[in-house]
Amino acid sequence: MSKIVVIKGSARKGGNSNSMADAFIAAAGELGHEVVECNATSMNLNGCHGCMSCFKTGKACTHDDDFNTIADDLLTADGWVFSFPIYWYTMPGQTKCILDNVFSFAVGGKDCKGKKVAIISCCEENDMTVFDHAVGPFERGGALMGWDFVGNVLVPGVNNVGDIANTDGCEQAAALAQKF
Ligand SMILES: Cc1cc2nc3c(=O)[nH]c(=O)nc-3n(C[C@H](O)[C@H](O)[C@H](O)COP(=O)(O)O)c2cc1C
Repeated sequence: MSKIVVIKGSARKGGNSNSMADAFIAAAGELGHEVVECNATSMNLNGCHGCMSCFKTGKACTHDDDFNTIADDLLTADGWVFSFPIYWYTMPGQTKCILDNVFSFAVGGKDCKGKKVAIISCCEENDMTVFDHAVGPFERGGALMGWDFVGNVLVPGVNNVGDIANTDGCEQAAALAQKF
């Protein structure tokens, strides 16, 4: 059984990406996986300062924001799931702060090769290219870091809370759990 960290990137309770993330979490739990859940929007995150002193003071990020509260779980997990809505054709700022601080693992020599990674996302426009600049940074960065992409759930055409129920997004997210 795997340990999976799910990072939620929307502050909207009952929102579309959170509903899909919850469907993933429920399915992963049923499969016996250990799931660690965090919501990036309720964390104090400042992104990367580029100081290159990661792990030199015993913490992943020397500047000590809430990335450090999940760093150990990220390192010991077999898989990471990033769920978030599209904001301005990319990931929301808080999700990007976490992704930026994942850089500390590279600087600190922490091997993340083979981590299973997946993205769950949604957007208002009915156009799959809206996801390009959100998925791209993960896929290009992950290729460099040796991550193993197991599949993405990308659902266009949803805007209001509850819209996801009119799609198969939650079913897709539940099915994604079988890839871990
Ligand atoms: C700040 C902001 C920026 C957004 N930018 C985009 C965008 O560039 N393209 C798009 O299709 N939808 C955009 N949306 C719409 C959301 O992606 C959409 O409402 C989504 O379903 C929200 O997901 P959530 O319920 O998980 O928060 C934006 C919404 C907000 C609040």
